[in-house]
Amino acid sequence: MVTIRDVARKAGVSVSTVSRVINGSGYVGEDTERKVLLAMKELNYQPNRIARGLVSRRTSTIGLLIPDVANPFFSEMARGVEDAAIAEGYSVLLCNSDWKSERELMYIDLLKGRWVDGIVIVGSRSDSRVIEAAVGDTPLVIVDRRSSEFRWSVWTDNRQGAALVVEHLLKMGCSKIVHIAGPSDSPSAQERRKGYEQAISQAGLVAIVYEGDFRFASGFEIATMILEGSQRPDGIFAANDLMAIGVLQAAVKLGVQVPHEVAIVGYDNIPSAGYVSPSLTTVHQPSYQMGVSAFDLLLEQFVTNSGQSARKVKFEPKLVVRDSSLKCPSRNSV
Ligand code: RIB
Repeated sequence: MVTIRDVARKAGVSVSTVSRVINGSGYVGEDTERKVLLAMKELNYQPNRIARGLVSRRTSTIGLLIPDVANPFFSEMARGVEDAAIAEGYSVLLCNSDWKSERELMYIDLLKGRWVDGIVIVGSRSDSRVIEAAVGDTPLVIVDRRSSEFRWSVWTDNRQGAALVVEHLLKMGCSKIVHIAGPSDSPSAQERRKGYEQAISQAGLVAIVYEGDFRFASGFEIATMILEGSQRPDGIFAANDLMAIGVLQAAVKLGVQVPHEVAIVGYDNIPSAGYVSPSLTTVHQPSYQMGVSAFDLLLEQFVTNSGQSARKVKFEPKLVVRDSSLKCPSRNSV
């Protein structure tokens, strides 16, 4: 078993210096700390959990992993996490995984190496067992995954949200509604696709699905292909607002009238959804509040310090009707 002496020898420092780094007690120069942390990582040294527990090394720092910092849905959620954390005296280390599982796992390892007190992971596509193994006993909250997979999670009912969209488009008189789904390995995209398919089937219609990647360009490219064809739909449901705005741009480019020739609906209700023209009908996800709730669940774990409890916070989706789908005079909104 690797001991603290092995770490000291490898780092070229005294045992007491290694102890100060582990317990965050007393002064250690940045370069020395870096050498000790590197030695610990290379030797895969795990301080004695009990000994470390006795000297609780609180760094008052949490890690936040999001998949796309350029997507306002996630940046708004990050604001919620940070505002809640700062109010409790915590700092936030923000990491952007760019939807890459290997980068997500690298950041989890880095955050643990920085001794963060807890980690919030948003929109992960990694297998839950892989995440749990990587995080170990560091307090964890998962956002935007099915509630059954993790003990501490914040989520919205994506299947219900998709059903609201189909119900609305049917009410607007649409009879050929296609779905531009998110990536097939995204749990939220899978749930929205299932909600769409179930609602379409219940209406006696045929489900038509194209796979996007939650980014603007995929919405634009798929919509261009769909709207140029002879079998044009009269309703398009995109699995997030960035793709839906891409669909709007494709319709403008092709001279297709929105909503009269094709109604368009997105998902998230990012701030710009209300400012594009025509304004975008979408499903509201309270991303800021979801971020606040995620930090609250971390704090609960710090306070209870119990490995056994669990809590899940579920938010209900709300349809926000705007001009991009409004074929009739009635309008309801959040
Ligand atoms: O816009 C990005 C999407 O990915 C959001 O709808 C969120 O649910 C995440 O899964």
